[in-house]
Amino acid sequence: MDTQALKRDNAQFLWHPMAHPAAMRKTRPDIIARGEGCWVWDIDGHKLLDGVAGLWSSNLGHSCRPVRDAIVAQLDELPFFNTFRGTTHPRAIELSAALVALMRDDGVAAVMFGNGGSDAVEAALKIARQYHRLRGEPERSKFIALKQGYHGVHFGGMSVNGNPQFRRPYEPLLPGVFHIDTPWLYRNPYTQDEAALGRICAELLEREIQFQGADTVAAFIAEPIQGAGGIIVPPANYWPLVREVCNRHGVLLIADEVVTGFGRGGAMFGTRLWGVQADLWCLAKGISTGYVPLGATAIGARVAEAFDADASGAGQITHGYTYSAHPVAAAAALATLKVLVEDDVVGHVARVAPAFQQRLRGLVQRHDFVGDVRGQGLMLGIEMVADKPTRATLPKGSDLPLRVSRAAYRRGLMVRVSGPNLILSPPLVISEAELDTLCSTLEAAFDEVGAQR
Ligand SMILES: Cc1ncc(COP(=O)(O)O)c(C=O)c1O
Repeated sequence: MDTQALKRDNAQFLWHPMAHPAAMRKTRPDIIARGEGCWVWDIDGHKLLDGVAGLWSSNLGHSCRPVRDAIVAQLDELPFFNTFRGTTHPRAIELSAALVALMRDDGVAAVMFGNGGSDAVEAALKIARQYHRLRGEPERSKFIALKQGYHGVHFGGMSVNGNPQFRRPYEPLLPGVFHIDTPWLYRNPYTQDEAALGRICAELLEREIQFQGADTVAAFIAEPIQGAGGIIVPPANYWPLVREVCNRHGVLLIADEVVTGFGRGGAMFGTRLWGVQADLWCLAKGISTGYVPLGATAIGARVAEAFDADASGAGQITHGYTYSAHPVAAAAALATLKVLVEDDVVGHVARVAPAFQQRLRGLVQRHDFVGDVRGQGLMLGIEMVADKPTRATLPKGSDLPLRVSRAAYRRGLMVRVSGPNLILSPPLVISEAELDTLCSTLEAAFDEVGAQR
């Protein structure tokens, strides 16, 4: 491998998601060349513990043999065929049956596939609108979403995104999308009482539905735990109350489980953490442990029934991609689900996560620039602040999070920077010893930067 040529060509030819092309020439991205278990090596041979699972994705680590074998076998058997009306293939059928079986108790009746999280969101938004049309309420077209939420980059998902940074450059977006406050304990103008905050924020949803006119609202979409927005865990009463609000007003509930699905939060699905059934679930990332792109939209029984009952033809799904249910991705997902269940990976997360969460919460006491550490399961966010007593946010452009992430990198740990936050989402199969290494490396990185301030 000509490492110099790769570094040069990257800067010249490759536009990176969520990055300024010119900035990538000045601050070159790390080139990750190899992975094994929970570890990766960069192109210069530097070994790192993967604290981000690729990008919340490689939940089974980087060398899960059964998934690798399933991919290879599928390439030999049938590398590609489509699932558009008229044809299908065995892996698509098997995966849909496996997912529905896995989610039957959640109320799921069917699934449709795409190539990633943005696709899963797009399908959910479209199905929500079509559902209301089928039921004779064609004016229910609006969506309500949470500030700070992230739902991908297609025009629908981007429109429901709650971070202006992702919206501004591409406006105007989808009309009829409205954002309400997130139940975010650390930053809200209402209360520091969790249960009260859950009630207030669910009430905000109800008021917004009433203000818009319930007969115009198609769905409320949210992440069971906000990921990219900074790992915001809602109060335990929020989702149950939101479910009640949606029921009262005939509004569908879309759970964007692209990050929380398949065990990240310590339960197989984020909605299970809150004891709630959604109407539509957006799934991706961990579904295929990130080895092959795949997204899925799981469809609740109530929604599926409306399509099944339609005799007019209006229930035809005029949505889908060439690569919907790609056989190689479906094979990877089938193998992933098998490992997840047989190895009780989700149980492992539930067992190891509390100590991990508790230990890193100690950073708040150790450093005056760490305002909040929050998370659940194996997702954790560390928010840095300019002034802890007042919770003043870091000044725009502060390089503090980047400095900590670079110190961690030098010491052999990959973490992710998102605004003022460091985000951790290691592979779900990470051992307790590796979690210990992760925590001590990160603590040392914070100490290093803290000492330089
Ligand atoms: C909650 C959520 N929804 C949707 C997406 C978009 O997924 P993708 O990048 O696979 O399109 C993401 C990506 O991180 C996500 O975190």
